[in-house]
Amino acid sequence: MNPLSELPICQKLDIKYPIFGFSHSVEVTAAICKAGGVGIYGATRDMPERIVSQLAKIRELVGDRPFGVDLLLPKGMQEDADFAAVEAMLPQEQKDFVAYLADKYKVPPATEDNFFSSQIRTNALFDGQIDAVMESSVDLFATGIGGRKDAVERAKKLGKMTVALVGAPKHVLAAKDWGIDLIVAQGHEAGGHTGKITTLALVPQVVDIAGDIPVLAAGGIGDGRQVAASLALGAQGAWLGTLWLAAREHKTGAVLMKQILEAGSADTVVSRAHSGKPARLIKSTWTEEWASPEAPEPLPMPLHQVVTGPLLAAVEEHQVEALIYGGAGQSVAWCQEETTVDAIMQRLITETGAVLTALPR
Ligand SMILES: Cc1cc2nc3c(=O)[nH]c(=O)nc-3n(C[C@H](O)[C@H](O)[C@H](O)COP(=O)(O)O)c2cc1C
Repeated sequence: MNPLSELPICQKLDIKYPIFGFSHSVEVTAAICKAGGVGIYGATRDMPERIVSQLAKIRELVGDRPFGVDLLLPKGMQEDADFAAVEAMLPQEQKDFVAYLADKYKVPPATEDNFFSSQIRTNALFDGQIDAVMESSVDLFATGIGGRKDAVERAKKLGKMTVALVGAPKHVLAAKDWGIDLIVAQGHEAGGHTGKITTLALVPQVVDIAGDIPVLAAGGIGDGRQVAASLALGAQGAWLGTLWLAAREHKTGAVLMKQILEAGSADTVVSRAHSGKPARLIKSTWTEEWASPEAPEPLPMPLHQVVTGPLLAAVEEHQVEALIYGGAGQSVAWCQEETTVDAIMQRLITETGAVLTALPR
């Protein structure tokens, strides 16, 4: 048996491998489960009704295998807000810069809204998203950029395993207070929103504070040597987000796929140009424009996505190549060709098994 399969987390969840995969795609989430890991569907960009239907689709695809859902629950958002009213009150400097970008890159207006051109992150939205998760049969409920004790308690009462992504040792104390079941220590190398501490420094600190709560390592993991290293750091498995972007099941658009396949670790950058909070993205015209001396500071979350939402909806609709961008971790170096979820999983498992077997005992 692969030594990975003997870890307690595998027994607890009845899974073959302690490889957890975050994705915004239903197909990728399901494929990760079918390949023996745990797929986690990223639902932060979905309205509650869509969360219900997406999770139902995944359940249909995975049968009784466990899968998860992830929400972002940042603190300090307004209770409720109207997009048009907030948009009208945004600072002129940022509005002018977005108009300048639209003009410079000849972006025609969008003819339809998407999530970010019509929604604002508010507590009312989060309440609806949490209700949708609770209604579903999803097995794991994960949250990033914060979390909520009431939501953790509800999920646990429904028999769901609760998961918190943390980027600093101090975040573990809050997660313990919520009664969390599983902690993901996500280091600076990770794609998407990220903190300042690297995975190698973060994971053992989180493991020490977490005590009996199992920990997964995340951030920069691209091959089996790093999965094996995660175990050496005290984690029971790995949580990956970037590698799946190169899987066919993800249906990554051609422009972004090219950026992903061509990028090395040094081609990613932590930027506030996506959401207003630091997030690791592939360096692109979008990140460079916002980093230029003429650019204003991105607005804080959630306002940056209000000011940029309509432009980015148009960029997506009209596939304006110059401004297409995406999040990815330093692990993007291992995205070298278009592949499949199953091939990624098999590679990770084989490589990890080989390293663990070769280690001196
Ligand atoms: C494109 C992208 C979007 C992400 N969005 C979220 C998110 O909405 N919620 C979340 O908890 N983590 C999100 N993450 C972080 C992942 O859950 C995971 O921790 C991270 O990808 C691990 O590092 P890696 O990218 O090096 O694999 C995202 C990651 C990527 C690459």
